[in-house]
Amino acid sequence: MQIDHIGIATDDLDSVVELYGSVFGLDVAHTEEFEGMEVGFLDVDGVYLELLEPVERGTAIGDFLERNGPGIHHVAFAVEDVEAALSAARDAGAEAIDDEPRPGAWGHSVAFLHPRSTAGVLVEFVEH
Ligand code: CO
Repeated sequence: MQIDHIGIATDDLDSVVELYGSVFGLDVAHTEEFEGMEVGFLDVDGVYLELLEPVERGTAIGDFLERNGPGIHHVAFAVEDVEAALSAARDAGAEAIDDEPRPGAWGHSVAFLHPRSTAGVLVEFVEH
């Protein structure tokens, strides 16, 4: 299994794009507005930083920012089959947030595991 992306919560996506462009030389691979968030993917040689800025009230990212401030929000593993990965993780004792795969940003199919069952890290499975 490989890391697909690392999700980063921000209250100012444009400035992070500029900062990471100048400090790390990263380019934007994709942007979209998705479920009340502005989402931008920075390409790190095929692994991505997924920048998440809430643009509407009541998003999970907005709640996260209020509680924790900007920073790393989740780690996403690339899988061939989200449903199979979810069911294997559950069989191994992990707690799913999503009962079944749902549409994610960039047209992906995704599902999340609860951080209380994965060492404090919000984990996402991603199928392209
Ligand atoms: Co993600």
